[in-house]
Amino acid sequence: MEQEIVIKVKDPQGNLHTLDCPVDMGLSLKDICKAYELPMEAVCGGMCMCATCHCYLLSHTEALNEKSSEEKALLSELFNAKANSRLACQVPLTAELNGLCIEIVPD
Ligand code: FES
Repeated sequence: MEQEIVIKVKDPQGNLHTLDCPVDMGLSLKDICKAYELPMEAVCGGMCMCATCHCYLLSHTEALNEKSSEEKALLSELFNAKANSRLACQVPLTAELNGLCIEIVPD
């Protein structure tokens, strides 16, 4: 089993970042973006309360875990939410996500 995956993250300025992510440490997509100091606020620290970890999935839309009702409710309040929106703090990093591409949504 792969212990490390690579994901690509487009920041709000359009720059593409390549992130090496361990999948055996219980990290979320939000955690790894913060670890790389990307411009993702994640004000609530991953409690599914702030929606400042909003991102668009540019790939792997089927491979991710289901949204919880809390995540769905929070996304439904955002004016810029799309079908491929996720809250990064609600997405655990798993081996299946190798090659995932996301875009951080600007505020
Ligand atoms: S960090 Fe606040 S909802 Fe994800």
